[in-house]
Amino acid sequence: MNCTQIRLELGLPKPIRLLHISDTHLSYADERDDERKRVLAEQRRVCFEGTDSGRCMRYLDEAISHVKANCDLLLHTGDLIDFVSYRNLDLAREKLADVPNFVATGNHEFSLYVGEAFEDTAYKMQSMPLVQPAFGNDLLFASRRIGGVNLVAVDDSYYHFNSDQLKQLKSEVEKGDPILLLLHTPLHTDELFHEAMESHHQECAYLAGTPEEKLQRYAPDRQIQQRPTPETLEFIEYVRQCPAIRAILAGHLHFTYNYSGAFSPYANQYVVGGGYYNCAEEFELI
Ligand SMILES: [Fe+2]
Repeated sequence: MNCTQIRLELGLPKPIRLLHISDTHLSYADERDDERKRVLAEQRRVCFEGTDSGRCMRYLDEAISHVKANCDLLLHTGDLIDFVSYRNLDLAREKLADVPNFVATGNHEFSLYVGEAFEDTAYKMQSMPLVQPAFGNDLLFASRRIGGVNLVAVDDSYYHFNSDQLKQLKSEVEKGDPILLLLHTPLHTDELFHEAMESHHQECAYLAGTPEEKLQRYAPDRQIQQRPTPETLEFIEYVRQCPAIRAILAGHLHFTYNYSGAFSPYANQYVVGGGYYNCAEEFELI
């Protein structure tokens, strides 16, 4: 594993160890799915695995074994599966049943055929009844308190937050424990924007909360996709000013390495590289 060790001092009664991975992109389909999904599965496996066939699953299994031997919990920040299929959802259920875990959803958890539609809440909710039961916690908003820390997972997989999520986050903050915030899409910082656009020469940075003047560099469809709503900006501003939020864990960017940078006076943002590159971050909370 390409694993970065991170230690956070939170004043816990005893240390907790968490392994963070993201973007596994399991791509399978079987006879229960249609021909289009079976063809898509083959094509997408080649995208993520190249000539190293089976590595998405193998790296996930490696992370699960590592957690069983060394950690309290596996954290997955989304795109465990690449698209909705019976086989992918069975695999998600099976793998997650094998290890204590807490997840945030990615955009691909609800993707029916990958890139075939504009992804909005209505699109997501079509698949929710099939997808949600494969995961152990609520995919829109969830919290898990463990050993004096509160893990909070919020769905920002389509680059937006809503006012319900902000209300729920505020009530988690009131509980008083330090919070690790799990997101799929990282939050905009100028440094991370620069990393994506200049170091990786991307057409857009794939971040939540990117300011208007920076969005002007994107193609029109990417501007529409990634332009923050007022509720999104309000949520992010709250996170920035909240001393209880001690770290932000995200994925989505598919870097080949693990990135971290300051987000607020209280929290760094940790963007783990692609799971299909075997990237992971091990957090020791003390
Ligand atoms: Fe992804």
